Amino acid sequence: MLEKIEKIRLEAEQEDLSTPEHLASFRIRFLGSKGVIKGLYQEFKSVNPDEKREIGAALNQLKQAVEDRLVLLETPKKELKKFTKTEDYSKPAVTRTTGSLHPLSMITQEIVAIFEKIGFISSEGPEIEDDWHNFSALNFPPDHPARDMQDTFFLDDPFASFSLRTHTSSVQVRVMESSTLPIRTLSPGRVYRNEAISARAHCFFHQIEGLYIDQHVTLADLKQTLEYFAKCFFGSSVKIRLRPSYFPFTEPSAEVDVSCTLCSGSGCSICKHSGWLEILGCGMVDPNVLEDCGIDSKTYSGFAFGMGVERIAQLKYRVNDLRLYSENDLRFLDQFHL
Ligand code: DAH
Repeated sequence: MLEKIEKIRLEAEQEDLSTPEHLASFRIRFLGSKGVIKGLYQEFKSVNPDEKREIGAALNQLKQAVEDRLVLLETPKKELKKFTKTEDYSKPAVTRTTGSLHPLSMITQEIVAIFEKIGFISSEGPEIEDDWHNFSALNFPPDHPARDMQDTFFLDDPFASFSLRTHTSSVQVRVMESSTLPIRTLSPGRVYRNEAISARAHCFFHQIEGLYIDQHVTLADLKQTLEYFAKCFFGSSVKIRLRPSYFPFTEPSAEVDVSCTLCSGSGCSICKHSGWLEILGCGMVDPNVLEDCGIDSKTYSGFAFGMGVERIAQLKYRVNDLRLYSENDLRFLDQFHL
């Protein structure tokens, strides 16, 4: 019987299985209920007990070899059939919605990264602030209009005067009070003003405060730093100009404009035909402020600046309605996917 099995094994191995028809008849002939292998197993029943072991093993091997050949040849066809039934690879891809950073976060990160390159580190302060950090230490006279109820959200506290911070300049004070010199810091954060909400004003918005304190810091350092920032952020052909201004905590103070990013300074509706766009306020830290924060104003000097993140974003993305930044409308936010 061993010889018979071997002969059938060779036959099965050499059988031409190049067409589906051949495959089908091969399967029936060898594995069918009345097939060759079934017949061999029948025959096996009457084999001599001491030959059973050897012949049984050969028979099982034959069956396995036939099945393996079929599996090998039939599987790809089956798999292909399964795929073509369920998948159409010419269909457009399924789009997956992923979250992304808010445009104001993107702008903030970009600005922080620019200043990090020249040694500024980030700092934070609380949004609920006391009078000292938001006003007094920053040289605001007691009757300054910024302390007025119309600008500031005061908190109801009979024992102390707390408010929502009106600017991130409060963080300057906290950093100067607690750090060792020199200081190079950037403080991004949310600020609050008691304003009616419209396209051009909001009761909360975002600012980034910058502060540099060291020996021999001059107005030239301030201008150079801001020019470096403007060129990194708006492009290397941008120009800046400083216009004299007033802030209680800096002397001298200035407002900074960049040449219009749309018309390059020749005049258009964005820059109201002036060729310039205002981006921030700045100045040399007033000696009174340094002294209030425990810094010797005879040895140290410094500059500070503060910019509105929404304002910078408006210039970069040409968004003219401030409300869009806080309405969570995906039709707006989706446009800022990287
Ligand atoms: N704190 C000012 C504001 O909210 C902005 C500002 C102006 C910050 C001049 C500064 C500065 O540090 O030097 O309008």
